[in-house]
Amino acid sequence: MNSTQLHRRDVMKAGALLAASAWGPVAIAKSTRDHSARIRDLIGRMTLPEKIGQMNQIAGGRQKALNSRLDEGMMNRVRRGEMGSFLHVAGAEPLRKLQKVAVEESRLGIPLLFAMDVIHGYRTILPVPLALAASWDPAMMEQAAALAAEEARAAGLHWTFTPMVDVARDARWGRVVEGAGEDAYLGSRMAEAQVRGIEGGDPSAPGRMLSCTKHFVGYGAVAGGRDYDSADLTDRALHEVYLPPFHAAIRAGTGSFMTAFNDVAGVPMTAHEDLVRGQLRGRWGYQGLIVSDWNAIRELMNHGVVATPAEAAALALRAGVDMDMASGTYIEHLAAAVAADATLLPLVDEAVGRILAVKARLGLFDDPYGFGDARRAAAPLARTKAREMATRSIVLLRNEGAVLPLKPGTKVALIGALADDASSAIGSWRARGRPEDAVTLRTALPQASYDPGTDPAAAARIAGAADVVLLAIGEDFDLSGEARSRSDITLPGKQQALVDAIRATGKPIVAILMNGRPLALEKALAGIPAVLETWFLGIESGPAIAEILTGKTSPAGRLPMGMPRVTGQLPMTYAHVPSGRPANPDLAIDSARYRDVDVGPLFPFGHGLSYSRFDYGALAIEQRGDAAVVSVAVTNAGERSAEEVVQLYVRDPVASVARPVRELRGFHRLSLRAGEQRTLRFTLTHAQLALWKAGKWVIEPGVFEVMVGSSSADIRARGRFAIAEGGEGTAPAAAIATVVSVS
Ligand code: GLC
Repeated sequence: MNSTQLHRRDVMKAGALLAASAWGPVAIAKSTRDHSARIRDLIGRMTLPEKIGQMNQIAGGRQKALNSRLDEGMMNRVRRGEMGSFLHVAGAEPLRKLQKVAVEESRLGIPLLFAMDVIHGYRTILPVPLALAASWDPAMMEQAAALAAEEARAAGLHWTFTPMVDVARDARWGRVVEGAGEDAYLGSRMAEAQVRGIEGGDPSAPGRMLSCTKHFVGYGAVAGGRDYDSADLTDRALHEVYLPPFHAAIRAGTGSFMTAFNDVAGVPMTAHEDLVRGQLRGRWGYQGLIVSDWNAIRELMNHGVVATPAEAAALALRAGVDMDMASGTYIEHLAAAVAADATLLPLVDEAVGRILAVKARLGLFDDPYGFGDARRAAAPLARTKAREMATRSIVLLRNEGAVLPLKPGTKVALIGALADDASSAIGSWRARGRPEDAVTLRTALPQASYDPGTDPAAAARIAGAADVVLLAIGEDFDLSGEARSRSDITLPGKQQALVDAIRATGKPIVAILMNGRPLALEKALAGIPAVLETWFLGIESGPAIAEILTGKTSPAGRLPMGMPRVTGQLPMTYAHVPSGRPANPDLAIDSARYRDVDVGPLFPFGHGLSYSRFDYGALAIEQRGDAAVVSVAVTNAGERSAEEVVQLYVRDPVASVARPVRELRGFHRLSLRAGEQRTLRFTLTHAQLALWKAGKWVIEPGVFEVMVGSSSADIRARGRFAIAEGGEGTAPAAAIATVVSVS
């Protein structure tokens, strides 16, 4: 077969790929169906340089200087068809101009894809993702993603590199701020919610965008919490903990994936043919677009798996990476790789086919200028929504002696620089957010006497004159996020001295934590009766915290990630296996624990207090075919309306391999008036209890324990049921959502 015939056959294959199931398990959006013939024809007319151009994504600026590289030289590159996408660009007008050059001045007029990291808001900056996850409210997470997409699309963007779905159990890793914490089930619910919010089922629809689920896979498991380091994962951990949220995102219809920087057991994810082309595309049938992370294809040389950029290009393409983010390796070296190995050409056509299919799905061939909406872009910030989301993301960790809510007329001192740090309030990955848009806690509490705490003695004097001290401590925004791993996650700087000085005044203290990651605060919080976890809450940070402090709203957030006592406990998770000598508080008994620190986290996964209290009835478990329906009555036994996050955990106490002491398999955030009782029904399918073994999801017969409660460590009701017949699951157990009904 000569190269023309080979080329034609592969074009047909690429076209067939598009026509058949460009989106794998999700429905094909109408716009793709209309274009498959056109895409086939286009590929047939493209030269190899034009094809490779589509696979090249260029930074049109820098995060802090968007569009700054869009000069005439870059326009000429657009005219030559040397790129298929830009990132770090924004603005309806500049992007319309750029698109015009591509559509009207290049040979084939293929529209460009414009992308940005719109992670927790575009102009209206919302709580950081870890805070949003602390709401345990997927519907709210979906709203947050939808709001961000609406604003970003109005600014001319098509594609956001969101959701970040990396499960993480080591808070030394700075990027925990971008994710949904330590649990695969919670992470799966938040992943699907964000995809739904961004894409809404059809990213070409008004206010929607293309999502990008990242970072595939295992990035949250980097050794020592060191960003970019190796992730040495077992097959079971990979499938039971780190892959589920990616599967959930596919089922929700995510249009693209991004491969991770890290290697998994020595194979860089950017070149991981078995997990990308094998698992993601092959076994899961995913046919959306896959983009590398920034410069990651070129960095395959640093990993030491290739000797030249041309080899890096070939390896990444074989692995299934369609688009090269910012490294220039495809545009500069893929043609040489193809010349040396013609079997790469069909892979180029497949990759180009997927890129063009995304553009079709976004409606860019129908209307390349359809994105951008100056009127919507000029709309006011969505402050009401931002405040509600912030309030629901706050976690009350401790409230001894009911220091909170503050009694009316309480004389308050507000201490700590973070209380007045508008920039930290909007966190990292702030897109087009501006610190001046943020209302700080200091602004929200004008009646409080304020001191930044830089001089502990001066701060102590202010504190001494108050009834209650609000002490804002934690990290500034730039201590978490990408490339922000810390070896010691206690309070940075001189904050401990400030805490000690304020504690010495003897005044009741409310510690207000402002941070992007869980911190190791056993020492810092000793003797402090009330602790509020407020993360980085976005532009309405101050008013939201004030609503909780004054009792206008009862807190209901829950930790999406446990907080350690000391850094040395990390990595840690509630969902650990028991070991042969389970951790025992009694030091006289040798067990799986440290001798110099108490067992377990300072505050566990799922923990969060309320201004009310909730009673749980006994569990009722009814077996229905391949499911168990677990019912429980929950009563608001307090004096005020409040919300409870009812959590359901399971355990397989005897299995063919050691199983976690508990695993989250359902939750529901419930609002109850004082005295009100509702019954929750969790329909738990047997497939959600499967374990990964020998390449399959195995449902083993036997007895399973069910625990329902207010956190992973506050179980209020227990029950058991038996599975008589084993079987096999078809999806990662934690990726499967539990149906919850309330009556
Ligand atoms: C970064 C991050 C990734 C982000 C990309 C584009 O290095 O790893 O999450 O989407 O580059 O900014």
